[in-house]
Amino acid sequence: MNINKAKENLKEIGFLELDTPKDLDYVKEILKLKKEKNAVILAHYYQEPAIQDIADFVGDSLQLSYKANEVDADLIVFAGVHFMAETAKILNPNKKVVLPDLNAGCSLAESCEAKDLQAFKDKHPDHLVITYVNTSAEVKAISDICCTSSNAKKIVDSVPLDQPIIFAPDRNLGAWIKKETGRDMLLWDGACVVHEAFSIDKLLKTYNVHPDAKIIAHPESEDHILKTAAYIGSTSGLINYAKTNPAKEFIVATEAGILHEMQKEVPDKKLIPAPAVEDNSCACSECPYMKLNNMKKLYLCMKYELPEIQVPDDIQKKALIPIQRMLEISAK
Ligand code: 13P
Ligand code: SF4
Repeated sequence: MNINKAKENLKEIGFLELDTPKDLDYVKEILKLKKEKNAVILAHYYQEPAIQDIADFVGDSLQLSYKANEVDADLIVFAGVHFMAETAKILNPNKKVVLPDLNAGCSLAESCEAKDLQAFKDKHPDHLVITYVNTSAEVKAISDICCTSSNAKKIVDSVPLDQPIIFAPDRNLGAWIKKETGRDMLLWDGACVVHEAFSIDKLLKTYNVHPDAKIIAHPESEDHILKTAAYIGSTSGLINYAKTNPAKEFIVATEAGILHEMQKEVPDKKLIPAPAVEDNSCACSECPYMKLNNMKKLYLCMKYELPEIQVPDDIQKKALIPIQRMLEISAK
């Protein structure tokens, strides 16, 4: 079933109008459901703090893929966005995978439709296709290898030097990897709305106020932001750097949800979210898709085991190949 049909179905059965009693203790109820249903909750670092705190495992995209591959649960509850839950389903076709809000998409995944990537591939038939996991199952099904920001360099380095590469869909991650590896890759023109929202002017002003701080950035950020960074890495890489670097202050250029886990790891360090161009309630950059999930939706999703992620058999089989290649290369 395609995603729009699945959304219509949820509307028809009244799932989207479901409410909960005002005084419901979500933590207690979710823990109860977890036990009753032998469920596992996997959460990304960009989820709201309450969700991260109740999850069985919190991690970056690569760690979550490994976890999804290992879990021994009847129900996988994915507190993240659609492509992450879909990856878990591709790795576990016989398990039920649910996502609290089916509208939790991703601007990168939306920038790259399978039919457009296929047309691009047809123009460059000698190129190997490496796609970021932030893509649909259909795009993975026509890719050669997947990658995440943690392993993109390793994946590209694993490809013979004379093999031309198409890298999709993130142009910023792609440009950074091109620089890091010296490879001449064809880049798809997609971007993350969250990481392109950082303001270089505001970032430099913040740095002037905190000159001893280290700027650390996710590689989905634009080049002018990355040029200011003392460290560039995935969400887990950024947390690890804040932990191991002796600096006492960090300006963190990624989605603000990461600050929850990072602050737990470095309770006596000062973490400053990198400022966004637009003034908003947090003055930082938040992912509008990740933030669609909340404790109420997590509870309802576990109670009714909806919305369920479905991937057609033929697509699942093809999409599994580049994901498994990625897991094998990164484990080396
Ligand atoms: P990582 O957690 O792999 O760094 O990816 C960040 C991201 O954009 C997830 O949507
Ligand atoms: Fe997609 Fe960016 Fe949100 Fe990650 S932070 S889910 S890449 S839009």
